[in-house]
Amino acid sequence: MGVDIHAQEVETKYTTTIHRATKLVIERLYRPWQWPEWLYDLLPSGKEYKLGFIALGKQKRKAFLDLLLDQNEKDEAPLTDDELIAQVNTFMFAGHDTTAIALTCTLFLLGNNLDHQEKVHEELEEVFKDSKTPASVKELSQLKYLDRIIKETLRLYPSVPTITRKLAEEVKIGDYTLPKDVTVVFHILLLHTNPQVWSDPKKFDPDRFLPENSKHRHPYAYIPFSAGPRNCIGQRFALLEEKTILTAILRKWRVKSVKTTDAIQYEASIIIRPCEDIFIYFTPKK
Ligand code: HEM
Repeated sequence: MGVDIHAQEVETKYTTTIHRATKLVIERLYRPWQWPEWLYDLLPSGKEYKLGFIALGKQKRKAFLDLLLDQNEKDEAPLTDDELIAQVNTFMFAGHDTTAIALTCTLFLLGNNLDHQEKVHEELEEVFKDSKTPASVKELSQLKYLDRIIKETLRLYPSVPTITRKLAEEVKIGDYTLPKDVTVVFHILLLHTNPQVWSDPKKFDPDRFLPENSKHRHPYAYIPFSAGPRNCIGQRFALLEEKTILTAILRKWRVKSVKTTDAIQYEASIIIRPCEDIFIYFTPKK
């Protein structure tokens, strides 16, 4: 919610301040002479505690809800509380589960396709060499093979496998007429495995997304983020997020899936969801 704490990678000022502050609270608890507020403020531990908390309160960026509330105050027709809640829920839901499952599926497929994974490692070594610092946006943009891996994963496992639209007007498709007001379901998963478009559709082949292999493909043959005016507004963010996380993992680890892709069933849901836990071996890279 607006504070980037890198909690799983490194000790940051935020995490060390939190650890120190929680320690100072317990120390104070066992030292009754530190209990009066006016006295505690004068003691070195009291000053450290207060300064720490002031630092924690200073956010460089505003959280999503803060931005929404600020904007709402300026708006001539502000959103109601229910509408604000709906907006936050949409972002949290649309932005979290989708990317999480896409990441799981990418690692699962890489763990089943070790030859492709090897190419990812080669690319990572080429771009990052011995660097230990987190990936920059420029470095991420150089990871073309990883790009294709992510795209091919979203072809085989589109996080949102079906979408619906209510027809505002009658639509004719060939000999069929779809009446106004009916709800049409678009099966993205079936579209992505249509053998008329994709040769050997079940095969994991990231090179389908090489520019020379995609240039004659219909623009709507591949729509993991939907298409048209109500497509996914988080698309670019999602791809960058996926690349950042996959890079952080694959710069350190090799992955091998316990089960093959055929062995896992998926349940029908708004989000594509495996019916069981996906287990993956992680081996540290030398
Ligand atoms: C791999 C990740 C993602 C996939 C595959 C994905 C896919 C989709 C799809 C297919 C839709 C259209 C739904 C429909 O037409 O009914 C959609 C809508 C939407 N997505 Fe994403 N999404 C992803 C990540 C994100 C992220 C990270 C965010 C926000 C940070 C986000 C925010 C939204 C929002 C707000 C909508 C509704 C847009 C509207 O109705 O105008 N999505 N997404």
